[in-house]
Amino acid sequence: MGVGNTFEELEKSVMQDMRKTYSDKAIDHFLNPRNLGQIESPDGFGRVTGPCGDTIEIYLRVNGGKITNATFQTDGCGPSIVSGSMATELIKGKTIVEAQNISKDDILDALGGLPKESQHCSLLAANTVKEAVRDYLALSHEPWKRLYKIR
Ligand code: FES
Repeated sequence: MGVGNTFEELEKSVMQDMRKTYSDKAIDHFLNPRNLGQIESPDGFGRVTGPCGDTIEIYLRVNGGKITNATFQTDGCGPSIVSGSMATELIKGKTIVEAQNISKDDILDALGGLPKESQHCSLLAANTVKEAVRDYLALSHEPWKRLYKIR
């Protein structure tokens, strides 16, 4: 058996294991995370560290009260990548109020669920969205803070 075959077999077996635990949608967002990265001088920014010690950051671009772009970064687990990816997909095109109301369950539903032990990763993503919206609202009330805000 060649090395190529061994690698392909290993990959196949890893994917088979993943499919036992995660939905196709979650696997797709893990393999191809959407909206990964930062937005320069964002209109709203949230950084939240969960009790697990992992952090998600969310960056917002807002125009006319609507989220025209949203990106995320995380140093966390696979489900945190998947949750950040789906959370940013869900809030793009939404109003600030709609985004503020995105819940852990909205993210989980859109992902086709996550194992019980990983559901707190979606809560972390939802809380980070709320923090980014809070930051946007605070900065829109006191825009001069933008000039010296430390990210
Ligand atoms: Fe920390 Fe998933 S275990 S965000």
